Amino acid sequence: MRLLITGGAGFIGSNFVRYWVDAHPDDEVVALDLLTYAGNRANLADVEDRILFVHGDIGDLSLVETLLGDQSIDVVVNFAAESHNSLAVIDPGRFFRTNVIGTQSLLEAARRVGVARFHHISTCEVYGDLPLDTDETFTEESSYRPRTPYNASKAGADHAVRAYHETYGLPVTITNCCNNYGPYQFPEKVIALFTTNAIDDRPLPLYASTENRREWLHVLDHCRAVDAVLDRGTVGETYNVGSGVERSITQIADGVLDVLGKPLSLKTIVPDRPGHDRRYLLDSSKIKSELGWHATIPFEKGLADTVTWYAANREWWTPLLDRAPVEETAWVR
Ligand SMILES: NC(=O)c1ccc[n+]([C@@H]2O[C@H](COP(=O)([O-])OP(=O)(O)OC[C@H]3O[C@@H](n4cnc5c(N)ncnc54)[C@H](O)[C@@H]3O)[C@@H](O)[C@H]2O)c1
Repeated sequence: MRLLITGGAGFIGSNFVRYWVDAHPDDEVVALDLLTYAGNRANLADVEDRILFVHGDIGDLSLVETLLGDQSIDVVVNFAAESHNSLAVIDPGRFFRTNVIGTQSLLEAARRVGVARFHHISTCEVYGDLPLDTDETFTEESSYRPRTPYNASKAGADHAVRAYHETYGLPVTITNCCNNYGPYQFPEKVIALFTTNAIDDRPLPLYASTENRREWLHVLDHCRAVDAVLDRGTVGETYNVGSGVERSITQIADGVLDVLGKPLSLKTIVPDRPGHDRRYLLDSSKIKSELGWHATIPFEKGLADTVTWYAANREWWTPLLDRAPVEETAWVR
């Protein structure tokens, strides 16, 4: 099989490229990435000789159309996106350009050339947020109620993917995944940010709503879920991908500090981001019962391994600190 993996130099995309070449050594992988501040060739350093890397934009229709044809691509997996909610507050336009228009352009190229599968990576955040004290969860049938520019742009992309299936018969699947963590995550996202700050004895910025919770999945479990959907998922279907493991922002900070043996006094309260969602929790029973997928990495072990990875790979993340385009308190100025 020949795969085009977009956003392949980002956090989840690079983990997926590495996962795929190991799990499916006979397949050919092309990674397409614009190398924004979040994209990093170093994420692929250990697999570069086993893939073809192409520097380009998913929104460049002629480039992608030519690439799909020349490389005889069977399967597109679309990870490419602007992915940081905090940056979206400051610069929403780039989110709608890449996540909505870019995805539509990629779909159009896939429609024109013809592919066996177009798999789109989405997020739990399209469903909106949940109260902290409810038993409710989001199913694949839940309404889309995005509350932030990032969430809204991802929701728009999901609608475009479905429209290309219904209107043109493009063989699509979608996964809506909860929060990922693991190696190679840009040190702007909370676990990577807390870890890199704590290693250097810098304060950990906790949003004032410290009891807000997220559902956490190790990135390798996400990769296995996408593999399961590509292998035995039903075309036209959406699958929620979650672990069921929720942790508050306070619990995350305490866990990181504990692994590193750093003092709790590094925790510092900062104002909430505008539109800060309280909580998301997915009902992932469909992918479990229909495809036999389930999360395999316990959160405490995954967190300890991830924090340890950052401690051992300072040379990977130190150059990235100057590339982060937004500070967590930018909106209060
Ligand atoms: N990180 C999470 O917790 C999480 C959870 C659920 C879903 N997702 C989704 O997974 C996908 C990957 O997320 P991530 O955390 O790895 O993000 P990331 O920001 O680390 O990586 C995104 C990658 O896309 C590339 N990119 C951006 N615009 C591009 C364009 N126009 N053309 C080509 N490449 C472009 C970037 O250079 C980068 O390498 C995104 O679609 C995101 O919405 C992420």
